[in-house]
Amino acid sequence: MTKSDQPIFPYPPHQVKGYHEFLPLQTQPIGSLLPSDQYPQNENPPKLFEPLTIRGVEFPNRAWVAPMCQYSSSNGQATDHHLVHLGSMAMRGWGSIMIEATAVVPEGRITPEDSGLWEDSQIDSFKRIVDYVHGIKGVIGIQLAHAGRKASTPAPWNLRLAVEGGYDGGNVVGEENGGWPNNVQAPSAISFNEGKYANPVESSLEYIENLKKAFADAVERCKAIGFDYIEIHGAHGYLLHEYVDPLSNTRTDGYGGSFENRIKLPLEITKLVRDKWDKPLFYRLSATDWLEDTLGPEKTENGDYAWWGIEQTTILTQKLADLGVDLIDVSSGGNDIRQKVQVGPSYQLPFAEHIKKNVKNILVGAVGIITDAHQANDIIEQGKADVVLLAREVLRNVDFPLQSALQLGTAVNPAVQYERAWTRMLVKHDPNNVHQTTRSQHGVTEVQGEEGEKKKPNRRGPPPEIHSAVPGV
Ligand SMILES: Cc1cc2nc3c(=O)[nH]c(=O)nc-3n(C[C@H](O)[C@H](O)[C@H](O)COP(=O)(O)O)c2cc1C
Repeated sequence: MTKSDQPIFPYPPHQVKGYHEFLPLQTQPIGSLLPSDQYPQNENPPKLFEPLTIRGVEFPNRAWVAPMCQYSSSNGQATDHHLVHLGSMAMRGWGSIMIEATAVVPEGRITPEDSGLWEDSQIDSFKRIVDYVHGIKGVIGIQLAHAGRKASTPAPWNLRLAVEGGYDGGNVVGEENGGWPNNVQAPSAISFNEGKYANPVESSLEYIENLKKAFADAVERCKAIGFDYIEIHGAHGYLLHEYVDPLSNTRTDGYGGSFENRIKLPLEITKLVRDKWDKPLFYRLSATDWLEDTLGPEKTENGDYAWWGIEQTTILTQKLADLGVDLIDVSSGGNDIRQKVQVGPSYQLPFAEHIKKNVKNILVGAVGIITDAHQANDIIEQGKADVVLLAREVLRNVDFPLQSALQLGTAVNPAVQYERAWTRMLVKHDPNNVHQTTRSQHGVTEVQGEEGEKKKPNRRGPPPEIHSAVPGV
C-alpha cells in the first residue's frame, strides 16, 4: 500500500472552541438523557433524570452535588485540589455541582483554609474551574456564606490529629495560625460551645451594613466568574441561622427579639442578592434545631418561639419565595449542642416534603443520607422534592448518577472519554421486550481495555479489519 492509498480519516477532532487548550467536545451534557428515538428505554425515563430549567439555566438531571467544605483553599482561593475534586464530579454526570461554603468576608470563614470571595484577586481561581466545567457542558454554582460564631476553627482532620495526640483544649484557631479569635462575629455574644468555641462579639449595626455590602460585592464577583447559580448559606448554625434562631439571637435592636426582626437580615441579604443576580438563586436553611426532646415544643404556650423549628421555617421560606428565591435547600440542625438528631436514610426529607406542601412558588431540594438510586428517584417521582442533593455519597461513589441510570434502566450520556466504561448502560433496548439484547451501544464495543477500538456501524459486506495481527505490518 502506498502512502497515498492509506485510508485517511477525514475529520478533525471535535473540540471546544475558544477553550485555552485542547478539550474534547462533549456531545451533550454528561448525565443528560440520551434521545429516546435511539434509546427506546428512555421513552418514559425516571424522574431523577428529567432535566430542570430555572431562569434559563438547564440542569440536565435532578441528582445534584451538595456543597462540601474542603478546607483546602489558599487565602480563600480555589486551588488545584478544587479543580480535581469538582472537575471529577463534572465528568461524572451530576445535574449540578455546588462549590463549598465560600466566605464573603475573611472572618466569615469556618477555618483559615476555607474558600472565600471577599476580594477580586480570588476571582481567577474560581473562573478556571467554572470555565472547565462549562467547557464540558456542566452546571456549577457556589454557596455564599458567613460562619458567624462557628468561625476561626481548625479543619476537622487537624483537630482529629491533635486529639489523637492527646490534645483536650479548645477549638479556636489563634492568630499565629491564621485565625481571628477576637473578631468572631455573631448576632449576640453567646458562644456555640463555651470553652470549646470562640466567645463571639455581638455585631454592630455598622458591621451588619458592611456585611450586606460584602454579599453584594461577592455577587459581582460571581458574575465575573460566570457561575450558573448562587446559594445563600442560612443553615447549620452559621451566621444567618444564628440570626433567625431565638437561642442565638437575643439582640434588642431591629435585628433581634420578634420573629420578624430575627429573619430581617437573611431577608435583606436575599433581596439585595436577588436584585443583583438574575440567574437562579437558592437558599439553604436548617428546618429545625432538633430540640423538641430537650426543650419541648418550638412554640411555647404564650405564643413565643423557644427555638428554631419547622413552623418558623415554613413562614421564612414563603417570604424567601416571595422575594424570588428559586429553590430552598432543606437541611437541619447545627445551632445547638443539645440537638437530638434522628439520623437515618432520608432523615431530613419530611421537612422538605412539608415545605413542598405548604409553600408556594419555590422548588425544593432534599438532602441527607440519600445514597441509593431508587431512594433518590422515588423522592422525585413521589413529588416530595424537586431535586436531591448528595454529599458523602459523592465522595464514596462519584459515579452515582451514571450508576443510578444503569440501575434504573435508563441511558444517559457519559463523558466521551469514559464511554467505553458504560457499555452496559448504553445498550439500546425496548423496555417492553425483556428478551431483546441488541448490541448497538453508543458506537462502542464491549471489549475491555482495547485502546481505540470502535464499533463500526452495521454496513453490508464483511466486517472491516481493525487490528493487524502482526505489529508493524
Ligand atoms: C465534607 C463535608 C463538607 C460539608 N460542607 C458543607 C458546606 O460547605 N455547606 C453546607 O451547607 N453543608 C456542608 N456539608 C453538609 C452537606 O452539604 C450535607 O448537607 C450533609 O452532609 C448531609 O448530606 P449527606 O448525608 O448526603 O452527606 C458538608 C458535608 C460534608 C460531608
